[in-house]
Amino acid sequence: MDVRGRRLRKQSDDSLAFTSSLGSDRRLGKWVVLVNMAHMVSLFEEGEVDRATAARCLRFLEAAGPDIAEGPGAEDIHQLVEQKAVDALGVKAAGFLNYGKSRNDQVATAIRMEARMDIIGLAGALLELQRALLDVARRDGKAVFPGYTHLQRAQPVTLAHYCFAHFDAFGRDVDRLLQLYERVNLSPMGAAALGGTSVRVGRARVAEALGFDGPVPNAMDAVSGRDFVVESLSCATMAMLDLSSLCEELVLWSSKEFGFVELADEHSASSSIMPQKKNPVAAEIARAKAGSVIGSLTAVCAILKSLPYSYNLDLQEATPHLWRGLDDATASVEVVGSMVARARFSKGPVAESIRGNFSTATALANYLVEKEGVSFREAHASVGGLVARSVKTGVPLEELASGTWEAGGRKVRVRRKTATAVLDPANFLSEISSPGGANPSAVAAEIQKRSEALAAAERSVSSLRTPLEASERRLRGRAREMSKEVKR
Ligand code: ARG
Repeated sequence: MDVRGRRLRKQSDDSLAFTSSLGSDRRLGKWVVLVNMAHMVSLFEEGEVDRATAARCLRFLEAAGPDIAEGPGAEDIHQLVEQKAVDALGVKAAGFLNYGKSRNDQVATAIRMEARMDIIGLAGALLELQRALLDVARRDGKAVFPGYTHLQRAQPVTLAHYCFAHFDAFGRDVDRLLQLYERVNLSPMGAAALGGTSVRVGRARVAEALGFDGPVPNAMDAVSGRDFVVESLSCATMAMLDLSSLCEELVLWSSKEFGFVELADEHSASSSIMPQKKNPVAAEIARAKAGSVIGSLTAVCAILKSLPYSYNLDLQEATPHLWRGLDDATASVEVVGSMVARARFSKGPVAESIRGNFSTATALANYLVEKEGVSFREAHASVGGLVARSVKTGVPLEELASGTWEAGGRKVRVRRKTATAVLDPANFLSEISSPGGANPSAVAAEIQKRSEALAAAERSVSSLRTPLEASERRLRGRAREMSKEVKR
């Protein structure tokens, strides 16, 4: 018996091929089976389906392997599973599988179940990357590192300071995913097509069996709402924007012009014509993937825009963009994590870039304020004048700054020793007193703080996985136990 029903004649092959989601439904196969299991167990426990029928359906579902998603000519995985059950068990038993449920609530549920895993996976990859950044800080963090604004040398910082900046951004990406998870982890099941059902489906029971925190309250919202798809892709996009900046820096800094970092051969490729080349290919692709993820987000927004409530088949078109975006993001974060773990920061070129580049000139201006009582703006102007002279004449700033010169309408006298000390990058850093600044003496405590935060985030992420695994084990156990009752 064909589960499509009798209302319509056959859909044409071309039209079916065009509208079917089977090609991208494979990813939902496992979840569709579990949703059917939870629904059937609940129908039985609510007294809507007799024991023998439930047992036969559960035995079929329990035996379903990954090939459940394979098969020709179906509109989607939901129809395919039901059709296979009807073919195997007959319509007298399998005909109860869709009692009180629709593909609309089922697909929304299955997408959320897969999205949960993907969110956990992306968060896990981000945590690994954070760990790699923290390891760099631990290993070489006190080393002076050039800080840029406008990609012009600005002020020296420490390598750790730079690592912390990226670490903290990725930490917020993880936080966002954890907050998002709470909104994803609600069950649409029991919403049926859009308005609920007269069948006692046990919404709360099904939600719990599938590891959700509870049901989505409103049935129409449950089948129409895809804001969690937008939000997932938006979180992935934000992480990718953060990642793309890091990748851009790795590309720049691994070039001869900068020479700050040596990427491992494992993340590089050579050229087919230029035998000397070492190209930072993994960083380049990860940088580009940010564009692809933005594309996935944009596609979903455009698909959802102005859709009338409740379910429309347009929603089906959004789902593959979710998978593509989350997969791209996770793969990118993973590769950059191992790239950072294997990268080596080079001291020589870094030291070279810090020497004689005026990047400590702010300290000289501050010195004038403290010691000579001129206003900062006046000090800024006169140090700027010295720099201009140094650029023009090639005389080092230290030298121009020693002796007597004019600042804020008065004569200031700076000794050579003082000028050298004030402009020294190491002193510049050790004078920094503001919290969150780049003073090397703060590095150890800052690492400690972050490694505690990282451990807590790792616990939060792994604590999401545990109840999912437990509820799946319980549900499968229940199905197995009931399916034993089927008389052979
Ligand atoms: N294939 C659909 C999707 O992915 C499943 C729901 C279809 N619902 C329907 N009424 N045709 O969204």
